[in-house]
Amino acid sequence: MQMKDRVWRNHEEVFRRNCETLIQPEDTLVLVGDNSFGKNPTDCEPDMQYMMGLPGRKILLRGNHDKYWDAKKTNALNERYQGRLNFLQNNFYPYEDFALVGTKGHCFEGPFYLDRKGRILGWDEKNEEKSKEQVEKETGRLIQSFEAAKSAGYRRFLMFLHYPPTNILEEESSFTKLAEEYGVEQVIYAHSHGEARFYDSIQGEFHGIEYSLVSGDYLRWKPKRIL
Ligand SMILES: [Fe+2]
Repeated sequence: MQMKDRVWRNHEEVFRRNCETLIQPEDTLVLVGDNSFGKNPTDCEPDMQYMMGLPGRKILLRGNHDKYWDAKKTNALNERYQGRLNFLQNNFYPYEDFALVGTKGHCFEGPFYLDRKGRILGWDEKNEEKSKEQVEKETGRLIQSFEAAKSAGYRRFLMFLHYPPTNILEEESSFTKLAEEYGVEQVIYAHSHGEARFYDSIQGEFHGIEYSLVSGDYLRWKPKRIL
């Protein structure tokens, strides 16, 4: 993260003010991951308080930095913050006739080996293998989320990921394929920070689905209206 960038200055305050201006109590605010550096629920309590203080119904996604969120204990978090914060993983949340589905996701981020002109010559294949395991795990979680929504009768989907849906070399991935298979209308993701990373993955329409990057610095801390 490029924390030195001006856009990060007082970002919590700027984001809070923008939320208070744009979001009504009946609205839903999805916070797309990397919500706290706290390593356990006690450490991250100030961040939880901050998020609880934002307007609307809050839905959280797990980011790569959210160490407090044990992937196997999402239910415990949902019980602990019941009625205040909602944790999206292996489950879904309804919004009008849509199901909000999602998971952390994953994409291979290198290291890539470049030539002097910046062209990619190769990459760390060991890391790529590990990355494939993560992608598989997260694909399984996403399917669980979709299936929970489908069993409850939902047919319209908005899909949230923390990681971009594809890595910088891919045109599609198991996440974009799932989005197409389930007839998702929009895919919303974050994780890419700094101007150099904003266009690492799909933005705009791809195979009939709208893809949006909603990283805080990309949006200058102004929440994006999805519906
Ligand atoms: Fe991240």
